Amino acid sequence: MRIVLVGPPGAGKGTQAALLAKTLSIPHVSTGDLFRANISQGTELGKLAKSIMDEGKLVPDEVTIAMVRDRLHQQDAENGFLLDGFPRNTAQAVALDGILKDFGIALDGVLDLEVPEDEVVRRIAGRRLCRNDSAHIFHVLYNPPKTEGVCDVCGGELYQRSDDSEETVRTRLEVYHTETEPIIEYYAKQGLVTTIPALGKVDEVTERAIAALRENA
Ligand code: AP5
Ligand code: ZN
Repeated sequence: MRIVLVGPPGAGKGTQAALLAKTLSIPHVSTGDLFRANISQGTELGKLAKSIMDEGKLVPDEVTIAMVRDRLHQQDAENGFLLDGFPRNTAQAVALDGILKDFGIALDGVLDLEVPEDEVVRRIAGRRLCRNDSAHIFHVLYNPPKTEGVCDVCGGELYQRSDDSEETVRTRLEVYHTETEPIIEYYAKQGLVTTIPALGKVDEVTERAIAALRENA
């Protein structure tokens, strides 16, 4: 299955993608995680991305598209993938169509996670991530770790993302509305979009997502 996950910052894309990828046995490809891995490794791409991400703006299309093209060429993506955070504007959606066309494949579906803005702000404010594995995602109130600051899964240190500050979140939400929302319309015209409410317990949202994918993708 080849799926794109869309939704505002903090909607729960990373949380759901980790669970869905496991259930569907496909790799979770998150451009945000790929950039953060480059930042922690100190690569040139990481140096370029860091200040842009901290402002809440989009990393230039050229480098982002090249990074995704490389990732989708890897063997584990041959039989499917779950894209999270890409495409993020119409130019990236057009580029993805081109990449898939070169492979002779197409998307099966686009899953749109719908969450009210006040809830995404609460989710982002309390988010804590594991330094060892970006799939280990916690929330100080909604999904607290057993020991404060320590990952339940692997014992790694939990941290708060530098772009989760109030000011940067405001910019990220604006960028989502102006740049990213138009891709929902782009894919709707291709009959690919299913919108699901992403409020409620994590497991309930996963069940809704799987049901929607089985029905529509
Ligand atoms: P990216 O990393 O993609 O961030 P984002 O889209 O802003 O999304 P988030 O990671 O903030 O949220 P999420 O939806 O994954 O929510 P999560 O599951 O963590 O991008 C970061 C930056 O990288 C961008 O601003 C940009 O600069 C750059 N970038 C990335 N892709 C790019 C691209 N294609 N082009 C250009 N630039 C790009 O959940 C949030 C919290 O809620 C967690 O604490 C979680 O525990 C909690 N939670 C989740 N589900 C529930 C639930 N059901 N109930 C209660 N709490 C929940
Ligand atoms: Zn961990």
